[in-house]
Amino acid sequence: TYVVTEPCIRCRYTDCVEVCPVDCFHAGPRSLVIDPAVCIDCAVCVPECPVEAIYPEDELPADQEEFIEINARLAQQWPVITRHEPPPNDADEWAQIKNKREWLD
Ligand code: SF4
Ligand code: F3S
Repeated sequence: TYVVTEPCIRCRYTDCVEVCPVDCFHAGPRSLVIDPAVCIDCAVCVPECPVEAIYPEDELPADQEEFIEINARLAQQWPVITRHEPPPNDADEWAQIKNKREWLD
C-alpha cells in the first residue's frame, strides 16, 4: 500500500485525489490519508504531490513509519475525498516546515 506522510500536514494540496483510480484517499481537516485496504499500489498519486508526501509502505523514511498506523486508523474515521479542494492559504509556508505531526488531526 501507499502511505501519506508528515509533509502533507497543513499543506493538503489534494492534487493526489483526482488521479486515484479506486478513491482511497480520506480527508481530515489538515491532511489526507490512504486506506490501505483499498489502495491497489498503482503509484500514480506519487508525482502529483508537490511536497512528496506519498511513499510506498516498504520505502518509507525511517522517521515516517508511524504513518502506516495513522493512515490505517484515520481512513476509518475520515470521509473519502475525490475532488481537488483549495489548499490552506499558508500551505506553501507549511511546506518548508519539517516537524508538524502535532497538527495531524
Ligand atoms: Fe490511489 Fe494508486 Fe495512490 Fe494507491 S497508489 S492511493 S491506488 S493513486
Ligand atoms: Fe497531501 Fe500531497 Fe495529497 S500535500 S493532500 S498528499 S497532494
